Amino acid sequence: MAERLITDVLTKPEAALEVTLRPSVFSDFTGQANVKERLEIAVEAAKQRGDPLDHILLSGPPGLGKTTIANILCKAMGTNLKATSGPTIEKAGDLAGLLTNLEEGDVLFIDEIHRLQKTIEEYLYPAMEDFKLDIIIDQGPNARSVRLNLPRFTLIGATTRSGLLTAPLLTRFPVRERLDYYQSDQLQRIVVRAARLLNVEIEEAGAMEIARRSRGTPRIANNLLRRVRDYAQVRADGRITAGLADRALAILEIDQNGLDEMDKRILETVVVKFGGGPVGVSSLAVAVGEEPDTIEEVYEPYLIMEGYLHRTPQGRVATDLAYQKLGMKRAPGNQGGLL
Ligand SMILES: Nc1ncnc2c1ncn2[C@@H]1O[C@H](COP(=O)(O)OP(=O)(O)OP(=O)(O)O)[C@@H](O)[C@H]1O
Ligand SMILES: [Mg+2]
Repeated sequence: MAERLITDVLTKPEAALEVTLRPSVFSDFTGQANVKERLEIAVEAAKQRGDPLDHILLSGPPGLGKTTIANILCKAMGTNLKATSGPTIEKAGDLAGLLTNLEEGDVLFIDEIHRLQKTIEEYLYPAMEDFKLDIIIDQGPNARSVRLNLPRFTLIGATTRSGLLTAPLLTRFPVRERLDYYQSDQLQRIVVRAARLLNVEIEEAGAMEIARRSRGTPRIANNLLRRVRDYAQVRADGRITAGLADRALAILEIDQNGLDEMDKRILETVVVKFGGGPVGVSSLAVAVGEEPDTIEEVYEPYLIMEGYLHRTPQGRVATDLAYQKLGMKRAPGNQGGLL
């Protein structure tokens, strides 16, 4: 999915890296303490009763640990995980195939569940609620509906856009958890752990420098660690200090606040092209040459959280902080739509 720019440069060859760095138990999973505790309780309770886990919806921006948590849950329950994603389920038959191949207690993981087709979603409702699947066999006058019993399974859905889920689907998840951006000290711990796994020598301050500039996102922290490691190896003695991390990140054009080139392009566009806003997301997307979805899922949440952008009913508006960041001043009388 769309995590790109920093990560377009960084992620592609790194799928294997993610696997090795992905924590497989809750005790290695840093941060998200409340989410973790609620899920640990759910696992323990289900195990005590000998029931499958309730259906769980995990939402939040890319790279915060949704897939990781699904795997941890599955391992903790001692069950199998079958993974698929919303857009790959094209026909009701695809879904039926997945569901009928599950065993009691198995986890069906549907990534990007907000991109599931509406017609397919409707087959999911009775499957989730009653473990029944109504399928139509034959066509024309012979068509008839057959009801299949399914094993009691757990659906874990992941989405970067829970707002796009329909109410009937949303309400069929008894457990809904939203992951938030991580604090720097949590990311620092993640970086230190990853460095240990990768056999990289790193100072606490070096890990903090990477953590601070990772947009609150573990995946980005791990990716930056790898780039900084390369720099340390080629330009220094391999040890990552704060100063070295700073130099390496500067080369990667990751600024002091962790904003990457696209973040800055977005702010600049709102400020310069649209006079500080308000500007709608589709005009903004065209102007920066990115998909509106990617702006909404990947870039905007962080820029809003960090106070560079406001979302108003009229569109996106640059804050004073955005002007400061760009070293620019508002034109006199320009309140940036915030009258
Ligand atoms: N809490 C955490 N502690 C340590 N590492 C983490 C944590 N969360 C995520 N990671 C690391 O970040 C990587 C990305 O996490 P993950 O793939 O679970 O994100 P995601 O939310 O599923 O993203 P997407 O929406 O793009 O699918 C993992 O491979 C793992 O190495
Ligand atoms: Mg994922």
